Amino acid sequence: MLFRWRNFGFQNHQKIIMKKVILNNGNEIPEIGFGTWQTTDGVQKTLKAALDAGYTHIDTADIYGNEAEIGDAIAESGVERKNLFITTKVWNNNRSASGVRQSLEQSLEKLQTDYLDLLLIHWPANVKQFDNWKEINAETWKALQDAYKSGRVKAIGVSNFMLPQLKALLETAEIVPAVNQIEFHPGYTQQEVVNFCKDEGIAIEAWSPIGSGRLLKDEELNRIAEKYQVSPAILCIQFCLQSGVIVLPKSENPENIKNNLHFERFTISESDMKALKNLKETGFSGLNPEEVDF
Ligand SMILES: NC(=O)c1ccc[n+]([C@@H]2O[C@H](COP(=O)([O-])OP(=O)(O)OC[C@H]3O[C@@H](n4cnc5c(N)ncnc54)[C@H](OP(=O)(O)O)[C@@H]3O)[C@@H](O)[C@H]2O)c1
Repeated sequence: MLFRWRNFGFQNHQKIIMKKVILNNGNEIPEIGFGTWQTTDGVQKTLKAALDAGYTHIDTADIYGNEAEIGDAIAESGVERKNLFITTKVWNNNRSASGVRQSLEQSLEKLQTDYLDLLLIHWPANVKQFDNWKEINAETWKALQDAYKSGRVKAIGVSNFMLPQLKALLETAEIVPAVNQIEFHPGYTQQEVVNFCKDEGIAIEAWSPIGSGRLLKDEELNRIAEKYQVSPAILCIQFCLQSGVIVLPKSENPENIKNNLHFERFTISESDMKALKNLKETGFSGLNPEEVDF
């Protein structure tokens, strides 16, 4: 690399004031959360590094199989529960009302807490798999609404909901989802879904903001990163923030973990934002929620 990244260093972290986004129910959510999917090196170690670095927002899911380890890491950290924002997700085998109730109780127990800050439907039932996909999603959503009303969950939302599923859900929903967590990164911004959610007051969260690492080698992205003297990963994170999207980077490297939270904020020009939006789909996971068969 011929240039030095404006890299911040952890010593600067106190200068960065973590912004919070206000959800449609008035609750606040930190704009950067720590992703915990597919941690290879033991999530407990990684989460300890994240909590030490100052992350207060943690993104997990039943299917990640790491809630118990996360619960242990939080307990050992001594960070007070009220200072954390914890999200988990109901997996596809628990779409019924009783399934949601059971999943919630298990997640709470594993995470060693008596409430969640955010509970999401991980993936919608889709038309490829179910003739009655609308009814299934409506039933799951009703169960999340009940969980919200019980006070065990402070906000509820969805993940991977595309326009057909969102529109169908809103036909019967009593509570509008607070969040839609979708794949979002340079080269894959799902603008129609984002615009619809913004109009409905649903906050967007970006999953795989660095394309699970696939974007790091993209030549055009590297060229733009060089211009701002930042690393490609930081450019991806700033791209999400500047798009008005909550961002969930994951890392197992302690330096990257710190930098992803504490980097010196900068402004990407309008033309570079456009170029990043239109980047080729290097980072795309290949997962289309309307097509997946899980
Ligand atoms: N709702 C859903 O269906 C869904 C789906 C996928 C993901 N998610 C959520 O989104 C989170 C993030 O997505 P992801 O796990 O796919 O990964 P990601 O954040 O897009 O990318 C992680 C990769 O980027 C690298 N990286 C991170 N920061 C870096 C830095 N500063 N410099 C260089 N490399 C860096 C990491 O390597 P190092 O470890 O070496 O830093 C790792 O290889 C997940 O963990 C999960 O919480 C949700």
